Amino acid sequence: MKRNSRWPGFYKLSVADRRKVAAEALGMNVEELVAAVGDGGLACDKADKIIENVLGTFSLPFAVALNVQVNGEDFIAPMVVEEPSVVAAASNAARMVREGGGFSAEADEPIMIAQVQLDDVHDLPRACHRVRQHASELIALGNSAVPGLVRRGGGVRSIEARDLGEGMLVVHLHVDCRDAMGANLVNTVAEAVADRIQELSGGRTGLRILSNLCDRRKVRVKCRVPSRALASEEFDGSEVRDGIVRASRFAERDPYRATTHNKGLMNGLDAVVIATGNDWRAVESGAHAYAARSGKYSPLCVWRKEGEDLVGELEIPLSLGTVGGPSRVHDGARMGLRVVDASSATELAMVAAAVGMASNLAALRALATEGIQRGHMALHARSVAIAAGAIGADVERVAHRIHGMGDVTLDAARRALSEIGKLSNSAPPPGE
Ligand code: MEV
Repeated sequence: MKRNSRWPGFYKLSVADRRKVAAEALGMNVEELVAAVGDGGLACDKADKIIENVLGTFSLPFAVALNVQVNGEDFIAPMVVEEPSVVAAASNAARMVREGGGFSAEADEPIMIAQVQLDDVHDLPRACHRVRQHASELIALGNSAVPGLVRRGGGVRSIEARDLGEGMLVVHLHVDCRDAMGANLVNTVAEAVADRIQELSGGRTGLRILSNLCDRRKVRVKCRVPSRALASEEFDGSEVRDGIVRASRFAERDPYRATTHNKGLMNGLDAVVIATGNDWRAVESGAHAYAARSGKYSPLCVWRKEGEDLVGELEIPLSLGTVGGPSRVHDGARMGLRVVDASSATELAMVAAAVGMASNLAALRALATEGIQRGHMALHARSVAIAAGAIGADVERVAHRIHGMGDVTLDAARRALSEIGKLSNSAPPPGE
């Protein structure tokens, strides 16, 4: 079914009404949606089978980013994140990008790297040569350990020997993981070939494990935003565009800024990674290692002016799966995958990267204009109101009051709550 990710006014609905609208648009029953994410997506008895020493589960909000269009197709992007503004900002920026034709994305084949370390190799050039000479045999040996993957069209594609000096050799096996993230498959391959590599190299086997620097599994996303789409009430589009380009240059020159720039990007990207049951630590470690590949930590996404438009370009290594992992047992992760409805792990990676790019754009647009706090505080006020003990309609009342006073603190929220309690209980919350 072709999807439309423009759901105007969605954010204004109650949770119950949002569920109805979303279920209809996603072609499922409300009951299915509620059963999967209504209460955290993971029952305690299942959690007990996933990790050790379980005491319970720990929920985070499950939401959707709207307006996302990648390669001409609409996607509803599931997001699990605790930070206010991230979902709204990504949806908003995706709408601006849509005005320029949406995101265009492409990706490498889903190749992960298995590493086999060898120490005490006396003749490194000879060992490298022998490994290369026996590449076909090693590839076949690796493939024999993952027959299911080979049946699905994946498997070991090539092999590389790297001389790390001082008697250390590392052999990389490049494994096409198809729709799996691939950690287990790749580790299985590494362990299966290690003894034979040791025989060939004459060294002593060390570690046998994947590399999370999956730089053969990169996603590239581009977008072109007409400057008029960037305009706000107080700033015209060209001012905003130029401010974003200056912000990008700042990040390109300064690792302190690049780190925060990338954090804003990962706000959106990680949220999709988590919502689809993927390993966000793997994604994070790979992303930041890649950002530092030149020896200087740099922004993963850069922004330039082209004609009157703002053009963004992002490149990031991304190992995501749509099969295996938590999606087998976690109802919420399964629902995340159903919501995004990506045709492959590679397409999921393109959508996640596009949401990351939207988050980066939204953050830079705010920073280059009114600053981040105004929008952030309006939403943050709700969490502060809840922390102060507000429930039901009082949450909005307290949030509205402390935000209006410009004092979004716990003390102010407690005061507001007690004042509201003294006022008529029948006063409707703001906006009603
Ligand atoms: C906050 O979570 C993310 C930002 O700091 C990102 C940025 O500075 O670009 C707003």
